[in-house]
Amino acid sequence: MISNQTSDQISNQITNQDYQLRRQALLSALKPNSIAIIPAADEVTRSNDTEYPFRQNSDFFYLTGFTEPKAFLILSNKRSFAADGVSSILFVQAKDETAEIWHGRRLGVDKAPSTLLVDQAHAIDDIDKVLPGLIDGHEQLYYELDTNPKADKQVLRAMSECKNAPKQSKTAPPAIIDISYTLHDMRLHKSEAEIQIMQKSADISCEAHIRAMQVCQPNMYEYQLEATILHHFAMNGARHPAYNTIVGGGENACILHYTENQDRLQSGDLVLIDAGAEYQGYAADITRTFPVNGKFSPAQIEIYELVLKAQMTSIDMLVPGSTITDAMKCAVSVITQGLIDLGILQGTVLENIEQENHRAFFMHGLGHYLGLDVHDVGTYKVNGNDRPLAPGMVLTVEPGIYISEKADVPEKYKSIGVRIEDNIVITEQGNRVLTNNVVKTVTEIEALMAQ
Ligand code: GLY
Ligand code: MN
Ligand code: MN
Repeated sequence: MISNQTSDQISNQITNQDYQLRRQALLSALKPNSIAIIPAADEVTRSNDTEYPFRQNSDFFYLTGFTEPKAFLILSNKRSFAADGVSSILFVQAKDETAEIWHGRRLGVDKAPSTLLVDQAHAIDDIDKVLPGLIDGHEQLYYELDTNPKADKQVLRAMSECKNAPKQSKTAPPAIIDISYTLHDMRLHKSEAEIQIMQKSADISCEAHIRAMQVCQPNMYEYQLEATILHHFAMNGARHPAYNTIVGGGENACILHYTENQDRLQSGDLVLIDAGAEYQGYAADITRTFPVNGKFSPAQIEIYELVLKAQMTSIDMLVPGSTITDAMKCAVSVITQGLIDLGILQGTVLENIEQENHRAFFMHGLGHYLGLDVHDVGTYKVNGNDRPLAPGMVLTVEPGIYISEKADVPEKYKSIGVRIEDNIVITEQGNRVLTNNVVKTVTEIEALMAQ
C-alpha cells in the first residue's frame, strides 16, 4: 500500500523570525566590533554536467533556513553598521531566466531581504569586489577555516586586499577567530521547535525500521531492505537519509560502516540495520538488529539481551548533570560482565575493564550528539572536563557487540553483530527517548515478524 502521510508534514516549524533571532543571538555572543562570515555549501560535481545531491551547510542553514548554493551570510556588530540598521547581509545568486530554466528557481537579490529578513542582499558575483570593504575596520573576523577551501580562498583574499590597501585607508581585522565554538554551542542546545522536528524525523525512521522487519524474508538482498527503508523516508517527506544506510546480514553486521548492502540475507543470521531519515534538515539515527527468519537463536538472544541491558542501563544514566563518559563506563561494565558470564571473556571484571578487553567486541563509543548533522556539532569537553548534559541536548545511545567469524570464541557466537541505537533528548526531569516507536525487545521483534 502506498502511504500518503505527506500532509502530516510539519511545515514552517522554524520561521524566518526564528532564524533572525538566531543571527541576533550569535551576534550578541561575539566580541564587539566583529564581523562573521558563514558560507553556504558548494555544489559538488559528480561527472560532466551532473552534481551530487545538494545539501546545505548546516551552520548556514541554522542561521538562514536558505537552501540555495552560492551564498554567503555576513553578520556584523560594528557600531557604524548598526547605526545604518545593518547587521546581516546575504550574498545570493542573482535572478537569471536562462539559468533558472536549466538549473531551478532562485530567490534573487531583490526578494532576499523581505523573505529572509536580512538587512541587505547582494549578488554573489559581486562578493570578491564587496567583501574587502565589508571587512574593513572590524576588530575580529569570525570564520571557520578549513571546511570550505573555496570560501577560505575568497575570505583570505578579501582579508589581504583589505590589509594591503592602506592608501585606501582600509584596515583588516587583526584577529581571525574560529566561529564554530560559539555557533556550535548554540546548535548543541535544541529549541522546542527543533525537538518537534527531530521527533518527526525519529517517527518516520521508526516506521521505516518496522517496515523492514515486516518485509524481511530469507534470501532477500540487503539492498531490498535498504530500498524499503528509503522508500518509506521519501514517501513521508524525508527525501534523503541523514547518512548512508547500513544493512548488514550475518558477518556483515560486524563491519561497523558496512554500506555495500549487496549480499543475500540468510535464514539463521541476524541483520543489522542502521538507518535514519533527514527531515527538514534534522537527522534521526536508529539501529535495530533482528533475525532474518523472524526467530532469534538462543546464542543470538544471549548477545542481544546483553546489548539491550547495556543500552537501557546507559539511557537511564543520561540525565542533566551526568556525562556520556559516565554512561559509557556503565555500558562497558555491563558488557564486560556479560561477556565473562557467556565465556567469551576470561578473568575478573576488574582485570578485563583495566585491560579494556571489551574493545575486541565493542569497539566504538556509546553515542554522539544528533541534530542537523548526524554526528552533530558541539564539544564533548569543556575546559578539559567532560561536558555535563543539559536539557535540550539530543544524543544517540548505541552500544553494540560484534563477534566476527575470526574471533576466538565458542562457535555459536560467531558472526553475530548486534547494535541497538536510540535517540534521546535530555529533559529537566531526565530524558525522553524519541525513537520508542520501533520495537526493541526479543519478544516484541519476534511478535511483529510473526504477523
Ligand atoms: N549511523 C552512524 C552512527 O551510528 O554513528
Ligand atoms: Mn547509527
Ligand atoms: Mn549513531
